[in-house]
Amino acid sequence: RVVHVILTGGVGSRLWPLSRRQSPKQYLDLFAGKSLFEMTIERNRFITDNVIIVGNRDNTHLSHKAMVKCGLSYTNIVEATPRNTAAAIAFAALSVNPDDVLIVTPSDHMIVGEEDYGTAMRQGIEKAKKGFIVTFGIKPTRPETGYGYIEYDDDQVTSFREKPNLDTAEDFLERGNFLWNSGMFCFQASVFLEELRNFEPLVFQKAEQAWLASNKGVLDESLSLEIPSISVDYAVMERSKKIRVVPTEFSWSDLGSYEALYDYLISEGYPKDDNGNIVIGTEIFTGFVGLKNTIFVYTKDAFLLVQKEKSQDVKKIYNMLEKHQ
Ligand code: GDD
Ligand code: MG
Repeated sequence: RVVHVILTGGVGSRLWPLSRRQSPKQYLDLFAGKSLFEMTIERNRFITDNVIIVGNRDNTHLSHKAMVKCGLSYTNIVEATPRNTAAAIAFAALSVNPDDVLIVTPSDHMIVGEEDYGTAMRQGIEKAKKGFIVTFGIKPTRPETGYGYIEYDDDQVTSFREKPNLDTAEDFLERGNFLWNSGMFCFQASVFLEELRNFEPLVFQKAEQAWLASNKGVLDESLSLEIPSISVDYAVMERSKKIRVVPTEFSWSDLGSYEALYDYLISEGYPKDDNGNIVIGTEIFTGFVGLKNTIFVYTKDAFLLVQKEKSQDVKKIYNMLEKHQ
């Protein structure tokens, strides 16, 4: 059996005010009436119709609505509190048969090229059946520090480096034999759990305890709080010798920040003025004087003006508002 596991934990704070805690970016109908969540479900249903959603109490109803719209049934896992991706994936792996192959994907990436996607996934499934943990590599275009880097030679992974600093990222780009980690993985449930137990025994043990105490897929809060919070990249990918990579051909964007969203929109021919300023969320004429590469975001109860290069800092506003509410 092949199962698609969709992780939907984040709130997308760097895309405030488009993205809110009550309506995170992956559920927004930003793209021709479809959300990134729905598009993720759609592109994977050609590969399998077994779906596990790992989300939280705040977004269960949004996931459910999207699944009804897609006409697919699914298994729901509801985290009591976010414990990061190592634990989220462990819950999914604990809920299936040991030899089931899991395709784990985020719910908030833009991917164009359904056929190339299918090809990559089928290659991944074959490798996963042989006992490997498969990553999907993207050709890097800039020294991005928010991603993982896969050093590779054919399908062999010589090293995996999560979120390097800028100097290191620049060095990786120059050396040429590195791919970005797309954040999607494919492996047999038992292989993943074994590696998690090898490298992060406490995460494994506490996640298993919390899972065993769960009720209809809903995790217990106090047991969940005992699970160390670590991402799967640090916990397993950087350390395991079983990692392989499938280099991919599809176009991929982690629409995590306004900079990424801007680049995506511009590549799709979105209108900008002579100085690279753009407007999101309104048709009202908006003038920019003396500003460059500025993104103006209009929503019914909040505006944002952000310089493209400073996009990472939007989460500071989000965090400030969270604190004061
Ligand atoms: N259910 C659940 N629970 N989902 C979670 C949790 C959690 O506690 N934490 C994160 N997620 C979801 C996020 O919503 C997102 O869809 C996905 O897991 C990855 O988490 P991010 O927080 O977005 O990770 P990242 O962007 O810093 O880094 C990862 O993705 C990059 C590509 O976008 C890494 O895998 C990098 O190596 C990779 O390059
Ligand atoms: Mg991300």
